[in-house]
Amino acid sequence: MTSQDSAAPHAPPGPPAGTGSPLGVAMIGYAFMGKAHSNAWRNVASYFDVPAFEQRVLVGREAAGVAEAAAKYGWAESSTEWREVIARDDIQIVDICAPGFMHAEIAVAALAAGKHVLVEKPLANTLAEAESMAAAAQSARSQGVQSMVGFNYRRIPALALARELIGEGRLGAIRHVRAAYLQDWLVDPESPMTWRLNRETAGSGALGDIASHAIDQVLFLLGDQVTEVSGRLHTFTTQRPGAHGLEKVTVDDAAWATLSLASGAVASVEVSRMATGQKNSLKLEIYGEKGSILFDLEDLNELGFLDATVPVREQGFRRILVNEPVHPYAAAWWPQGHVIGWEHTFTHQIRDFLVAIGSGSQPSPSFEDGLTVQRILAAVEESAAAKSAIIQLASGPATIPPTEGA
Ligand SMILES: NC(=O)c1ccc[n+]([C@@H]2O[C@H](COP(=O)([O-])OP(=O)(O)OC[C@H]3O[C@@H](n4cnc5c(N)ncnc54)[C@H](O)[C@@H]3O)[C@@H](O)[C@H]2O)c1
Repeated sequence: MTSQDSAAPHAPPGPPAGTGSPLGVAMIGYAFMGKAHSNAWRNVASYFDVPAFEQRVLVGREAAGVAEAAAKYGWAESSTEWREVIARDDIQIVDICAPGFMHAEIAVAALAAGKHVLVEKPLANTLAEAESMAAAAQSARSQGVQSMVGFNYRRIPALALARELIGEGRLGAIRHVRAAYLQDWLVDPESPMTWRLNRETAGSGALGDIASHAIDQVLFLLGDQVTEVSGRLHTFTTQRPGAHGLEKVTVDDAAWATLSLASGAVASVEVSRMATGQKNSLKLEIYGEKGSILFDLEDLNELGFLDATVPVREQGFRRILVNEPVHPYAAAWWPQGHVIGWEHTFTHQIRDFLVAIGSGSQPSPSFEDGLTVQRILAAVEESAAAKSAIIQLASGPATIPPTEGA
């Protein structure tokens, strides 16, 4: 069982604990995720009650670019030296939005410096890095220093509701899950090399990038553990234009996995960055003995729910618009039916992170949860290298149990 989210708020929470001097925040990386996280930091206190904080420093590699981004995204200062920034006494939180190859080094150093850390998914590029990060998180936690991995889709109200319904037994025993995360930004063979297509910088391809989200959802929604993995990886375009001519693509374009769960359920995971016409399609289907749930990220305000306990003549999927004040996170935003978007998931993520820091509890998902996902990703790779052989994963909690309040 993964550690549980600090309960997703159904109504705006009361005043947070731990209000003192504002927490100083530094963020590393200012491109895609840097922009999304900056938007969340800028907005979160307008909608949720969170401990006071200040967006103090934005860090990047190039002075002029990071200074311009800092001004645009609401950061007081900019820097090109992350090591200097994490050593500053006026920084209490480090938000890592840099590529995967930097996660472990920055996170371990920041935790050792006593800073709370939020790091983007996947936790790391390798299992060894992920293990070192989980160990650092565990020792920092004993000093009251918190850490969280950015699986932001846990903060979609519809998926938080799905988890509640499953937890309440509305689906009965879960039999199987289909999780497909399909994109098409690599369809063009002339699409250039990036850090995402190189094993050294990205760790893996579609597997770490988007199967990590899908696998985290299987664990989050079911509260279950993966016991066996069979996987397959494929790279359709093996060379792409780079700075020095054609360069070798060293990661997968698509990945498939079958996961056995401790409860007896089975999950299929299918991900691709070459699924022509699919833009950012995370589809989840959960089938249980008493009902089923459907979700599509491209319609993220909605949840499909079939209650198989009503007479068959009345059965059918109903569309729940997950936008009522009674729904997770929704009361903080707009009147019912005034829908929210993808970027709100990051605001919810920052809200949960800050509230956990304010109350001195472990935010969720923890680095240990990130490590659990990393073990499954590694097992998919191991299986793929052995013609999809079944790989056993150790049963029982992968790491330490959640701390009090988690
Ligand atoms: N949660 C999500 O939905 C989601 C979506 C996309 C990416 N991600 C994750 O976010 C992370 C970053 O991905 P991205 O898409 O934002 O990448 P990106 O390429 O858009 O941005 C990376 C940023 O890191 C900075 N950077 C690189 N090397 C650096 C260094 N040595 N020092 C300081 N800064 C450095 C770059 O300047 C850039 O600002 C990855 O872990 C990725 O998997 C998460």
